[in-house]
Amino acid sequence: MGHFRKLGSVDAAAMAAHLCRLPAQDRRLRFHGTVSPAWIESRYAGLDWGRAVAVGLFDAGTLRGFVELAFDTPLPAPETRAELAISIEPAFQRVGLGRALAARAVTIARNRGAQRLTMLCLPENLPMRRIAKRLMGVMHQEDGTVEADLDLTAATPLSYWLEAVQDTADALSGGLEFWPRVLRSAPHTAEQGA
Ligand SMILES: CC(C)(COP(=O)(O)OP(=O)(O)OC[C@H]1O[C@@H](n2cnc3c(N)ncnc32)[C@H](O)[C@@H]1OP(=O)(O)O)[C@@H](O)C(=O)NCCC(=O)NCCS
Repeated sequence: MGHFRKLGSVDAAAMAAHLCRLPAQDRRLRFHGTVSPAWIESRYAGLDWGRAVAVGLFDAGTLRGFVELAFDTPLPAPETRAELAISIEPAFQRVGLGRALAARAVTIARNRGAQRLTMLCLPENLPMRRIAKRLMGVMHQEDGTVEADLDLTAATPLSYWLEAVQDTADALSGGLEFWPRVLRSAPHTAEQGA
């Protein structure tokens, strides 16, 4: 179902649209409180891509979820720390996509020099706690928030290779999904996209 690819500033509007489509309860879990669509739009329009990496889940050309890594310092930076946040729209939940995106984020954080990865969630957020338990291990609760921390091992040739292979697989699966869809709906658009 769908495909993954890294996101960039051109995807800011799609990221905000995805987050605004989330049910109110999921949006509250994602941001640990109530936020307005205007706040979300402004946050993603002004996202500092020098400190962020995100990987999105696309289905039929629409962004249906993404994992976001927010780094403490501008990249590339040795000894930085990163915080992970993730959201998947309800129709795409519970098939392992959240876990898959979070696992990719761990590799990316290592490869950008992060020494520690943090994941915050509300205590009632069972899916996120399960993801955190599998990936992070150590969890503690403070001020009504559960925090999971993972000490990352340094990047290796294998971790760089894994990220490169995943990016390549994304490009292939994205192309396999994109071209038949575009050719079916509007042949003249495909010519422009070549
Ligand atoms: C958290 C979230 C991204 C998980 O996405 P997902 O694609 O459904 O997750 P997965 O299918 O990979 O499931 C992850 C684990 O949670 C479990 N799970 C999923 N939904 C669950 C639910 N409603 N209740 C209990 N467990 C659930 C799965 O069984 C799986 O557990 P396992 O690894 O032990 O088998 C998604 O629920 C979401 O977008 N929530 C709203 C935003 C949010 O809470 N973000 C986290 C804070 S940043």
